[in-house]
Amino acid sequence: MATKVHIDGRVVPPEEATVSIFDRGFLYGDSVYEVTRTVRGRPLELGPHLDRLERSAETIALSVPPRAEVIRAIDETLAAAGNAESYVRIMVTRGSGPISLDPATAERPRLIVLVKVMELPPAKAYSDGVAVCIVGVQRNLRRAVDPRVKSGNYLNNVLALAEAKKAGAYEALMCDFQGRLAEGSTSNFFFVREGELLTPALEVGILEGITRQRVMELGRKVGLPVREAELEPADVASFAEALLTSSVRGVVPVVTIDGSPVGGGVPGPLTRRVMAAYAAYLEAA
Ligand code: PDD
Repeated sequence: MATKVHIDGRVVPPEEATVSIFDRGFLYGDSVYEVTRTVRGRPLELGPHLDRLERSAETIALSVPPRAEVIRAIDETLAAAGNAESYVRIMVTRGSGPISLDPATAERPRLIVLVKVMELPPAKAYSDGVAVCIVGVQRNLRRAVDPRVKSGNYLNNVLALAEAKKAGAYEALMCDFQGRLAEGSTSNFFFVREGELLTPALEVGILEGITRQRVMELGRKVGLPVREAELEPADVASFAEALLTSSVRGVVPVVTIDGSPVGGGVPGPLTRRVMAAYAAYLEAA
């Protein structure tokens, strides 16, 4: 059971995994990343995660190493860590350079793979559900750092989560600049209304979550109507159920929003169906 890091071409223990203070990831959050988990030792949805890493990088004109190199680094780090199941974080920074915002001054991209023991949220989160809070911090504008880019610049999300934690919530729910429900600090959201599973549209400006995509497919497979929708905080009172999704959490029921119960204030039947479908999917993955 260990934490291991692949950095600058070799696998090292965490205390040896350091970057220069001139690395642009450190200086400016000038980087992209992905997070997944292993299932029976293999990274879950690795293809879609690497697709998104490459898309994020392309959007900010950062070149990631060839996919085979990234996969080799992941495999080597997982093998060195030897965990039953791991959390896997893949980062590519624009690399070091002089103090200058100009990306052209960067030397070369730096690949870092961090592997640690996989820890799911406590069982109570799945059985009883979690509280979320609609925060004042807005999701980034699409014409700023587009939320579709999973960049290392997460300060906005850090502040959103801090606001939620201060209110005693497990996760933040951010709105876009027009007040439309968007997503969490590290999760996507779904809501149940009149038997339909609704999720904020990509067009609002959110990360295209890989678990979100999977849950949309699984929801349809188990016979639920699923669609993207434009939703506002005022709609919350009409929701019978809510849930959040992410690669390292799967599906977590949301039972209160801003202190008010969602529906009956307990994980609802459609949420349970989605959770069961996701569990079966992981079982077969
Ligand atoms: N975060 N939205 C945001 C802003 C996220 O950072 C994440 C994931 C998600 C869910 O995406 P996916 O289903 O592809 O994991 C949505 C990862 C888990 C993290 O930063 O830890």
